[in-house]
Amino acid sequence: MAILDIVTFPDPSLRLKAKPVKKFDKELQTLIDDMFDTMRNEPGVGLAAPQIGQSLQLVVIEYAEEPEDEDAPAPKPKKYVLVNPEVVKRSEEMVEGMEGCLSVPGLIGKVNRHEEITVKALNRHGKPQKIKAEGWMARIFQHELDHLNGVLYTDIASEIYEPINEEAAESDE
Ligand code: NI
Repeated sequence: MAILDIVTFPDPSLRLKAKPVKKFDKELQTLIDDMFDTMRNEPGVGLAAPQIGQSLQLVVIEYAEEPEDEDAPAPKPKKYVLVNPEVVKRSEEMVEGMEGCLSVPGLIGKVNRHEEITVKALNRHGKPQKIKAEGWMARIFQHELDHLNGVLYTDIASEIYEPINEEAAESDE
């Protein structure tokens, strides 16, 4: 268990195209666990390996959807490890939403994303998985996958703001 240093803009390592993961060894398992610890410590809902200075196609995500009913118990967070991910389907429908990024502290921005995407990836043990994500989860997936291609949300945001309070920056990815 370790908290890793997060690489921030304008560090050039955030701009590299990440390399595929080839070995599903003990070292990778430790890295994945450390990435979850680092993300939760911030807190954030997603973290890509380039954000901790590793040029690897590896993403961790942990996010609980808001309950539809205020009085409903908070749903359990969904947790994903995506290794060598590839988007295989994108909805035509696009949605605008606010994003933040642990590598771009102090800013949030409005970004247009596909409402739904389907991703093929390997899990932490190298087993293939296919995940359909929609809404906020689809947004997190797209944001994190962009990191693997050296793209930051600030490159594609229609507007960028400095949030006036901490609360607005809560959903940093
Ligand atoms: Ni980010």
